[in-house]
Amino acid sequence: MAKIVYGFGTSHGPLLSTPPERWDLRADDDRKNPAHPFRGSVYNFPDLVAVRDGERDFETEMSLETRKERHARNQKALDVLAETFAAVAPDVLVVVGDDQREWFHEDNQPSFSVYCGEQVINTALDPEKMKTKSPGIAAAMAGYYPPADVTYPVASDLAQMIVARAIEDEFDIAVTSRQPVGPRGIVGIGHAVGFVNRRILKDRPMPIIPILLNTYFPPNQPTAKRCYEFGRSIGRSVAAWGGENANKRVAVAASGGISHFVVDEEFDHRILTAMKNHDTKTIFSVPENWFRAGTSETKNWITVAGILSETGLKMEMVDYVPAYRSEGGTGCGMAFATWR
Ligand SMILES: [Fe+2]
Repeated sequence: MAKIVYGFGTSHGPLLSTPPERWDLRADDDRKNPAHPFRGSVYNFPDLVAVRDGERDFETEMSLETRKERHARNQKALDVLAETFAAVAPDVLVVVGDDQREWFHEDNQPSFSVYCGEQVINTALDPEKMKTKSPGIAAAMAGYYPPADVTYPVASDLAQMIVARAIEDEFDIAVTSRQPVGPRGIVGIGHAVGFVNRRILKDRPMPIIPILLNTYFPPNQPTAKRCYEFGRSIGRSVAAWGGENANKRVAVAASGGISHFVVDEEFDHRILTAMKNHDTKTIFSVPENWFRAGTSETKNWITVAGILSETGLKMEMVDYVPAYRSEGGTGCGMAFATWR
């Protein structure tokens, strides 16, 4: 039977692909944002600053000197993940990410979907699309979209097995087998998978399976427990992949999180430690309304923790880097981990 030989988790926030001198661009967005979810409540920016007063010296945390140090650590951690992945050289990579109005919109928003097509394209950076984004996002887009289209084969037989097993396990998941087409042509794989393809795979095509969660948009975000259980179902599918695939070595990736755009180091440490210790009680005890905005992407990691729960692979942190960009403690809690 096929074997899961490796797992990794990586944040994918825009700051990872933005020079530290330009992190202010995103801070400006934060100051204008009227709704920052933080520990179950929602604050406008001045109220966020007030509620976090005295928690930490955010002026020092957001200084250019600190940002440069954090940026260097982020890049080093990503390099470690890329080098480790190249050394492991698995046959297939299952990527668990979230869709953020890339393939799925108000007309249809699945909680869980598995891509079962024969191939998937990470489409080239589109200068016209860059013009529609805020300067802070536009500055980071090259981190997700390659200079030219890159086509990845999909392990569609395993993808279909994942679907069949999920249905048996009572997950009525969605299937997509064709990339959507928009006014500007094929809509590329979203940011969560695109970042992994760019930064960890280095645009080298290999068989992948994109699995997309709706972590962001009410009202049908799956709960943390449901994500973990879905992960366990995926893990069982891989373990049952036999026949001519019996010797295949499979890797799994979690893309996104941890806390953002309000950084919450306490939350990040608690959830990462719980994943490391297979402490599902702690994971499931987090109130669902803490998983909002970017922090919701932690569920991509929780799904992967479920996939890997029965493999015997051990989670190890490569680094955890709190990347702050404003006086309200906004930014991104960047986490990088391996399961070996
Ligand atoms: Fe994201």
